[in-house]
Amino acid sequence: MEFRPLGRTNLKVTSVCLGTMTWGQQNSEAEAHEQLSYAISERGINFIDTAEMYPVPGDPRTQGRTEEYIGSWLKARGKRDDLVIASKITGRSQMVWCRDKNIEPRHTRVQIDEAVEKSLRRFQTDYIDLYQLHWPDRAIPGFGFHAFYDYDAEDMVPLEDILESLSRHVEKGNIRHIGVSNEYPWAVMKFLAIAESRGWPRMVSNQCVYNLVSRRFDYSAAEIAMREQVGLLAYSPLAQGYLTGKYEGGKLPAKSRKALFGGFLGRYEGPGAADAIQDCLETARNLGLTPAQFALKFVETRQFVTSNIIGATTMAQLKENIDAHEIEWTSEMEQESRRIQKVHRSPCP
Ligand SMILES: NC(=O)c1ccc[n+]([C@@H]2O[C@H](COP(=O)([O-])OP(=O)(O)OC[C@H]3O[C@@H](n4cnc5c(N)ncnc54)[C@H](OP(=O)(O)O)[C@@H]3O)[C@@H](O)[C@H]2O)c1
Repeated sequence: MEFRPLGRTNLKVTSVCLGTMTWGQQNSEAEAHEQLSYAISERGINFIDTAEMYPVPGDPRTQGRTEEYIGSWLKARGKRDDLVIASKITGRSQMVWCRDKNIEPRHTRVQIDEAVEKSLRRFQTDYIDLYQLHWPDRAIPGFGFHAFYDYDAEDMVPLEDILESLSRHVEKGNIRHIGVSNEYPWAVMKFLAIAESRGWPRMVSNQCVYNLVSRRFDYSAAEIAMREQVGLLAYSPLAQGYLTGKYEGGKLPAKSRKALFGGFLGRYEGPGAADAIQDCLETARNLGLTPAQFALKFVETRQFVTSNIIGATTMAQLKENIDAHEIEWTSEMEQESRRIQKVHRSPCP
């Protein structure tokens, strides 16, 4: 396993991070524990990503289960300090069940306090290594939407207030480091500037979608990642399964994410997506790789990536996905990934 620095902290995380958002919905507690034990004890991964709202899709009946499953595994393991555990506070949304008062999740001080305390309880631990803002507390497009339309510049919790609330938890020792997710360059740079002027903690990472066909990060925050060490924690490296070839030719495997929650995959079904995905699949095979290997190793080898967040619903998938990081990335593979980008750009926002 390769270790990379997490921002400007002294923490080192593996270049593969274990994603968890299927645990509590597609995967049982026993399956979650099996994945954790395999990835951590047998394969040397030290980095786990979760969120207070998980599992997905968000549902009041299941919310919090993923953190609870990690907590029960940590308790049974009895050792915590060799792991880097990341969680996230829900962004503004209709997921009112995340809060005791059934209110819209926002990044106010009161809500940050509530969310941190509840996550700590579910983890049965006294600190979270990386606490992330899941998506911005601003009315801006996200999760596959293309353009800014009617946004209101005033309609937000001020970034300064958010950072102050988070910094109090860092001071208390509840959280060690902070990060953003699905964040735009404007706010990343603002957060850094405020942190510097107020002596508060700086954001250490930006968790965003990134894969062979979703490359918005290249056009936006990649330069910040390189120059400011706010590295990318890349999610959906397999385009939610599309880049494995499992949906090729219209196939719809039983129990797959698309069969269960089709609406989730809309990002990969817009204009240009099918051709780009097919090109990725065929290119991988011509290179002597499985499509998943090509897609995963591509993400891991980007200079601005701190860690690649993989997700799996079976042990066979998990093994294939971790193995993918052991292949050697050749200049031919690099040239092919560049050709794909040149021809198709980034069709899946
Ligand atoms: N910050 C955010 O907003 C955000 C958003 C999304 C995800 N994330 C994080 O990133 C992690 C990974 O995201 P993701 O699940 O979208 O990643 P992904 O790698 O694009 O998709 C993973 C899914 O693809 C299928 N799959 C994985 N490996 C496979 C293989 N080898 N062969 C065939 N199918 C395979 C599985 O679904 P099926 O078996 O159901 O088909 C699996 O759940 C999440 O767990 C979460 O921690 C964060």
